[in-house]
Amino acid sequence: MGPARVTIVEVGPRDGLQMEREFIPTETKVRLINALTRAGIRRMEVTSFVSPKVIPQLSDSADVMRTIERAPDGFYIALVPNLKGTERALAAGADGVKIVICTSDPYNLRNVGMSVEESLTNCAEVLRAAQAARKSAEVVIGLSFGCPITGPVPEDRVVELVGRLAAMGYSEISIADSMGLANPAQVRHMMRRLRLEFPHVHFSLHLHNTRGLGLANTLVAWEEGTDMFDSSVGGLGGSAVVVSGATGNVGTEDLVNMFHEMGVETGVDMNGLQAAARMAQEIVGRTLPSYILASGTPEQFYERVRAAESVKAERL
Ligand code: COA
Ligand code: ZN
Repeated sequence: MGPARVTIVEVGPRDGLQMEREFIPTETKVRLINALTRAGIRRMEVTSFVSPKVIPQLSDSADVMRTIERAPDGFYIALVPNLKGTERALAAGADGVKIVICTSDPYNLRNVGMSVEESLTNCAEVLRAAQAARKSAEVVIGLSFGCPITGPVPEDRVVELVGRLAAMGYSEISIADSMGLANPAQVRHMMRRLRLEFPHVHFSLHLHNTRGLGLANTLVAWEEGTDMFDSSVGGLGGSAVVVSGATGNVGTEDLVNMFHEMGVETGVDMNGLQAAARMAQEIVGRTLPSYILASGTPEQFYERVRAAESVKAERL
């Protein structure tokens, strides 16, 4: 059995919204983030402090970070690509920064204009800057399972990067299947090995549901002791930089529902979360892929059936 309680890291406002073509007004983004906070989400990737030319959708990141409602025990993270982003994020009041590094040079170059080696130097600078400001820094290893340019990624490559980042001082590392290429056997092996080889590092998992394996991958990672998972409300999202056919993250409602059904605590209120997912759907103006958004939880299903039965009984 896995951990009795897991932390859901809501990434919809960043990973989900970053690829939306139509600019979403700042107050609309803030409304969605606040709805997620009210639903009990306590860890959230609120926005990113990247080049506004690359991701125009999130060019209002400082305003978003400054105006969101904050739960006293909430933790509001900004994704950053470099030191400049870190300084901007901390100035806007982010509780922590998350820097992204990819496993392959060509993709990393396309994403942040640097080789992986340069990104590693960058990661060290970001960690120092965050520590100097008494804020937290974590790192996400993008394309930990497969890269659209170079193909499948060997587990050893991820282990090597984790080793270098851990030696630098990172103790929070997120393993990302950015393109939704991982399968449960790989995820189990990876998370088991990382836990054994780096007992002082806390790992989280960032999964995309491109091939429908998001929940299966979540489940095996949980069985291996992983207790922190990224997900996006409604399953919002897709890849912003390289057109690769990647779709959104695992839907937050789907993840929360699975854990609740299994008796694992998340601290998230399903009704509030469903309301936030409906709001996200209205904001982007299309149906989002989450299952629970479409079908409701088992409990809601039984309630509907009971209500329909009592209507029938009244008619008799
Ligand atoms: N936020 C805002 N502006 C930034 C910035 C940041 N974090 N980092 C650099 N810039 C600015 C520079 O000041 C410079 O501005 P100028 O043209 O007005 O002088 C411009 O961006 C170019 O900077 P340069 O250092 O030459 O970088 P680049 O053009 O190679 O871009 C990144 C590098 C990292 C800024 C850019 O690739 C980026 O933002 N990538 C993020 C991609 C992303 O979010 N992907 C999805 C999430 S994984
Ligand atoms: Zn992602």
